[in-house]
Amino acid sequence: IAETTLQATLPFPMGAAVNVSLLKSNSNYRNLVVKEFNSITAENAMKFASVHPSKDVYNFADADYLVDFAKANGKRVHGHTLNWYKSLPDWVTNFQGTTADWENLLKTHIQAVVSYFKGKVVSWDVVNEAIDEDGTMRNSIWLQKLGADYIGRAFQYAHEADPDALLFYNDYGHEFGPTKRIAILNLVTSLKNKGIPIDGIGLQMHTRVTQSDANLASAINLAAATGLKIHISELDIALNPDNNQALTYTSALGEQQAVKYKFIVKTYNAIPKSQQFGITTWNVTDADSWIPSNYNRPDWPLPFDAQYQRKAAYQGILDGVK
Ligand code: G3I
Repeated sequence: IAETTLQATLPFPMGAAVNVSLLKSNSNYRNLVVKEFNSITAENAMKFASVHPSKDVYNFADADYLVDFAKANGKRVHGHTLNWYKSLPDWVTNFQGTTADWENLLKTHIQAVVSYFKGKVVSWDVVNEAIDEDGTMRNSIWLQKLGADYIGRAFQYAHEADPDALLFYNDYGHEFGPTKRIAILNLVTSLKNKGIPIDGIGLQMHTRVTQSDANLASAINLAAATGLKIHISELDIALNPDNNQALTYTSALGEQQAVKYKFIVKTYNAIPKSQQFGITTWNVTDADSWIPSNYNRPDWPLPFDAQYQRKAAYQGILDGVK
C-alpha cells in the first residue's frame, strides 16, 4: 500500500514555497518536497532583486534550478512575483527617469521574466500587495511613479509575454475583516470588468491560530464569489502571535493548529472545483519558516517540524478533505 501523502490525498494541487538554498544543500528538505507536494513556488528566487540585479543583468540561476527540479519531479511551478514594493534592487529604488522611463522599466522586467519562463511557469503572481490595511492603494514606488493603473497594465504586459499563463493578484489580510478584503475584491472585479487578463486571486493567509473561523470563511468564500480562481498562496498558521519569548510547542497547541488547518482546507474544498487552483504553504518545516526570524520569536507555523516529521497540523490538512 502506498504511503499517504498530501499530494496523493488532496483533490486539488498542494504546494509549498521552496527555498532554493535548502533545496540544493539539504536532502531531507528536498526529499520532503518531492514526496509531499505537486506544486512549488519560489520563496524568493523569482523576485525582482533575485532575477534582475542590475538594469541590464538578469540572473536566473536559482530560479532555473527550481524550475529544473520541478520538471524532473513532475511538479507545477507558480511564479512569485513580478511586481512588488519589496525586494527591489537598489538600481530600481534609485532609478531616475520620466513616467515613460518607469513604464518601460515595469514592462521590460515583466516581459523579460515571463518570456524567459514561458511554458515552464504556468501561473504568476503578477502584482503583490498593492492594497494597504486601510483599503487604500499602498503608497509604493509603483503608485508614486505610475499611478494606480499600473496594476492593469502589469497584467496586460504579462499576458502579452505568455498568453497561456494564469495571472493572479496576490495579497494578505482577506481574513482580517472587511476593509482590506472589500478593497481587494473591488480591485480585481474592476480589472475583470475592464477586460484586463486576470485569472485568479492569491489569498496569502499568513494567519494565526486565534483567527476566527468566520473571518477565514469570509476570506475564502467572498473571494470565490468573484468567479476567479482561488489560490491559498502562502498559508501558515502562527501559534505565537503575541511574541511570547518563553512559549514552547505543546501537543495542545499543535491540536489547535490542526483544527485551524482543517477548517481552512475544508472551506477551500467546498468552493467550486473549477476555481480550486490549490493551496500552497509558505515553506515546508517550522525550521524554514520566515516567521521566527522576521518577528524574532519562537513559532511553529507549518505542517512539518524541524526534524522533517509530520505534525498534528499535517493530519489536520488531510482531515479537511475527509
Ligand atoms: O540571501 C540573503 C543572504 O545572502 C544574506 O546574508 C541575508 C542577510 O540579511 O539575507 C538573505 O536574503 C534574505 C532572504 O529572505 C533569504 O533568506 C532577505 O534579506 C530577506 O528580506 C528575505 O525575506 C523574504 C521576504 O519575503 C522578503 O523578500 C522571506 O524569506 C520570504 O519568506 C518573504 O515572503 C513574503 C512573500 O514574498 C510575500 N508575502 C509575504 C511573505 C512573508 O513576508
